Amino acid sequence: MCGIVGFTGQVQAAPILLEGLRRLEYRGYDSAGVAVQHGGAIEMVKASGTVERLAEKTAGGASLPGECGIAHTRWATHGAPTDTNAHPHLSGDGRFAVVHNGIIENYAALRAELLSEGYAFASETDTEVVAHLLEHYYDGNLKRAVMRTAARLEGSYVLGVLCADEPGRLFCVKEAGPLILGLGVGENYFASDVTALVGRTKNVIYLEDGEMAELTPENISVYDRTGREISKSVSHVVWDIEAAEKGGYEHFMMKEIMEQPRAVKSTIEPRLRNGRIELEGFELTAEEFSRFSRIVITACGSAYHAGMVGKYVIESLCRVPVETDLASELRYRDPIVGPDTLLIVVSQSGETADTIAALRECKARGAYVLAIVNVVGSTIARLADSVLYTHAGPEIAVATTKGYTTQLAALYLFAVWAAEKLGRIDDARYNELIAELDALPARVQRAIDLNLHVQYLAERWHEQRAMFFIGRNIDYAAALEGSLKLKEISYIHSEAYAAGELKHGTIALIDEKRLVVALCCQTALFDKMVSNIQEVKARGAKVLGLAPEGDRRIFAEADDVLFAPRGEPLFAAVSEMVPLQLFAYYVARENGCDIDKPRNLAKSVTVE
Ligand code: AGP
Repeated sequence: MCGIVGFTGQVQAAPILLEGLRRLEYRGYDSAGVAVQHGGAIEMVKASGTVERLAEKTAGGASLPGECGIAHTRWATHGAPTDTNAHPHLSGDGRFAVVHNGIIENYAALRAELLSEGYAFASETDTEVVAHLLEHYYDGNLKRAVMRTAARLEGSYVLGVLCADEPGRLFCVKEAGPLILGLGVGENYFASDVTALVGRTKNVIYLEDGEMAELTPENISVYDRTGREISKSVSHVVWDIEAAEKGGYEHFMMKEIMEQPRAVKSTIEPRLRNGRIELEGFELTAEEFSRFSRIVITACGSAYHAGMVGKYVIESLCRVPVETDLASELRYRDPIVGPDTLLIVVSQSGETADTIAALRECKARGAYVLAIVNVVGSTIARLADSVLYTHAGPEIAVATTKGYTTQLAALYLFAVWAAEKLGRIDDARYNELIAELDALPARVQRAIDLNLHVQYLAERWHEQRAMFFIGRNIDYAAALEGSLKLKEISYIHSEAYAAGELKHGTIALIDEKRLVVALCCQTALFDKMVSNIQEVKARGAKVLGLAPEGDRRIFAEADDVLFAPRGEPLFAAVSEMVPLQLFAYYVARENGCDIDKPRNLAKSVTVE
């Protein structure tokens, strides 16, 4: 979960590399560094802290001459976030510099081997072994040295390599992590994410695991694992750099909350044609689909919470058993899946290591894999048998908002499509659900408009030391996501609980110091939720109720109220999440937290 970027061209590299790092900083931001070729040597500057600190140390890159370089922004795995441990890492003779995203799992053995051969290490990182291996294998042929080095590595390694003796040439290697090439005019690039490239080019090449590329200002060559040159298709990025800018908002997170009506619309609308759902990208026929005896949904974090909502909706409409499983658990559970299993993999980035591993494990056992992802060409998208892309656009804030709500929209589309194909709903219900899907973008906008007072509620509650989110049925799955949003950006401890479960122990924690957020949007269970609200109030808790618009009963029960627009209860999680996102945002803002880049986190967890 680091970001790497490389540039080779005919203008100064460092400022361009720094700009690339700024757009990758959401992938890791505890230290950063840049290395460029200049005068037959490598010049390098590194800094703990954010990319801006690196920019300060290099006058925005101006103090580093040279037209070819690599750069890195880090989320520490091995070694504290210090200048020394920051990437790039140099070989002992200073001729090689390397940046790395991933974890080299056999680095200890390699380090011992290199130490025994007299190489000295400056850092605590796994990455530094790559720099010394390059020196060890280099005999004047850089491509061969890179291949020999990569052949020694185990684990995940996306590498950028710079050699002082090879002016204008860069190499990069992709193994178990994202790496994209950018094609410019008289200049070429590589980066961990398209967002780092789209300011200079929209023509990109997505590399596959085991591939490596050689870049000069005029040419890009791609090689397979054996070193044979292969041809790759060039993709064209359809969105502009403005989509990856803040657009006048104080934080990316607020911008992305406000983008949700459009993002949900972009995900749903292209799949509603002439009053029917058409899932382009889902390659199965209805007859093939009906052969599945069970569905397993796997993901991590917020994507897992979306999957939990999907379970309720798919089971309710399709009457097919659906299991949800944390990817980090599923991958090691010796899963009981086979050709009768449809595995739905949910991921915004498409690069989450645990989710990729769970996908591989289940696919190897014969499961059919449908991926719901946001990043085009991501690893999960390319490993799946079918892909339903969410069209949220680039999501920069570490705390996902539009990524989550568009995952729900895609799951709803799938559930209604499948229920109709399986004959589990009649035409009237099918048409009713399609109308509800079509209305979702407006519902999300209404949820924004209904909760302009959230900022003031946050001023009242931001000093809470602990909060509970409770709900039933789909509201329980939504409560999990609301709780995660709060804790990951405000650092306030928060737990989500099935409301009916609270009394089985955890209610012992409820007292006058606790705020309980009660999600009451499943109207059939409203009375049950009122009972739960009364239980916690009887023990001194304050209650922030979330209820359907216009349901005034909540005022008699809760101390403060949030509202979600009315609509199909099965689809309530999309719009009810908006006030919870806003609440988390304003609480974190009141507490002065770094909302877009919370401590200890990264946008895409590409390591175990
Ligand atoms: C959500 O706010 C977090 N950033 C995190 O839980 C995230 O949802 C999780 O890491 C999964 O990421 P993915 O959707 O890119 O696979």
